[in-house]
Amino acid sequence: MNADPFRIFTIFGTRPEAIKLAPVIRVLEEDKRFLLRTAVTGQHREMLDQVLEIFALKPDYDLELMEPEQRLPALTARIISGLGEILPQEEPDLVLVHGDTTTTLAAALTAFYQQIPVGHVEAGLRTGKKFSPFPEEMNRSLTDLLADIYFAPTSMNLQNLKRENISEEKIYLTGNTVIDAVRLISEERYEFPRQIPVAATRERGHSIVLLTAHRRENLGEKMAEIFAAVRELISAYSQIEVFFPVHLNPRIQILAERILGDHPRIHLLEPLDYQTFINLVNQSRLVLTDSGGIQEEAPGLGVPVVLLREDTERPEALEAGTVLKAGSSRKKIIELTGRLLEDEEFYQKTSRRTNPYGDGRAALRIKDALLEYFQLAEDIFQPFSFHG
Ligand code: UD1
Ligand code: UDP
Repeated sequence: MNADPFRIFTIFGTRPEAIKLAPVIRVLEEDKRFLLRTAVTGQHREMLDQVLEIFALKPDYDLELMEPEQRLPALTARIISGLGEILPQEEPDLVLVHGDTTTTLAAALTAFYQQIPVGHVEAGLRTGKKFSPFPEEMNRSLTDLLADIYFAPTSMNLQNLKRENISEEKIYLTGNTVIDAVRLISEERYEFPRQIPVAATRERGHSIVLLTAHRRENLGEKMAEIFAAVRELISAYSQIEVFFPVHLNPRIQILAERILGDHPRIHLLEPLDYQTFINLVNQSRLVLTDSGGIQEEAPGLGVPVVLLREDTERPEALEAGTVLKAGSSRKKIIELTGRLLEDEEFYQKTSRRTNPYGDGRAALRIKDALLEYFQLAEDIFQPFSFHG
């Protein structure tokens, strides 16, 4: 066996990539057979830094690329150009990327230009619709065209890749690393920071409805429609309080302030650090969201989700009945949320704990897959399996 460690260069830029790569970084750093180096593009700034801090991640490079209201073409160009300077100096054996952001695709493309193999964590998620979600569906499909080794969270994701003629020897069924991340930050007793009024809400006997919204295809009219639905819900149900950690995109901040900003039972919050957020999910009666990651986290915590998107690349929890799709229709959002608030039997069914996305061992499987694929160990990989 080669005595030199296998050199992995991991690149990420946004909050969800950081959360889902943190467990992988931890596992690879602990194994002497690997030498891990890290670059962040800084596609996100504050929201990325929150994750770096909570998982004590210290990147070797930070491109610091974020600009207010950044547009996709310029952002993509800046990432490729920045990484194009770094990769030739690093000469890694593998570039490791995660997910479906602009950072993901631009990093995979830069690696390809340098003829460096690419590993894709969270590969094979698909809606089959080019513009939904936008630009994520194309980001992940194109990344999968460029990749050499694939870490598919679920068997549906693995089947999607096989349908695209990717050879099975390159695909490893690992589970999603987000479940590892949830377990890493979970604590038995958690006390919320004072500015998050969970205790006061409980004292008033109210239930928490947690809201997040950020998708590009929802920006504008659709998001206004979603917020209008929330406004109607808060008037109709005097026993709920809405907690909304607002994404830092100025377009969302302005709209949230305009439609939701002046109600005593609607709490517009700063983006929350991951530990606070996961504990808030845990304390919530239900979650309204258009997020990808939250669709994976909430079912494991037994918290129902009303999904504010027309399409999802994560059909597993939809099939399990713990995620309910409303899209951006005001009527549908009110109907489904209302039913969850009023119909206890329906609520119990929908809040059944289920974990189709992982078992907390995805990062270890990714390490084993790398060892096996690059012939640093033999026959050690055991795939993730879920029996609903
Ligand atoms: C990005 C990803 C999306 C992912 C989401 C996770 C792309 C095209 N989109 O979307 O797939 O689901 O991250 O949250 O890759 N901003 C700040 N501070 C921050 C982060 C964002 O001020 O820490 C503001 C900036 O004005 C920035 C804007 O938000 O220009 C949009 O950020 P951007 O990364 O382009 O898009 P997201 O909607 O966050
Ligand atoms: N999240 C967080 N703080 C918040 C809101 C979300 O830490 O205030 C976490 C959440 O638990 C999930 C991830 O951020 O792991 C999802 O990020 P986002 O919804 O921005 O992106 P997506 O998953 O849709 O790509």
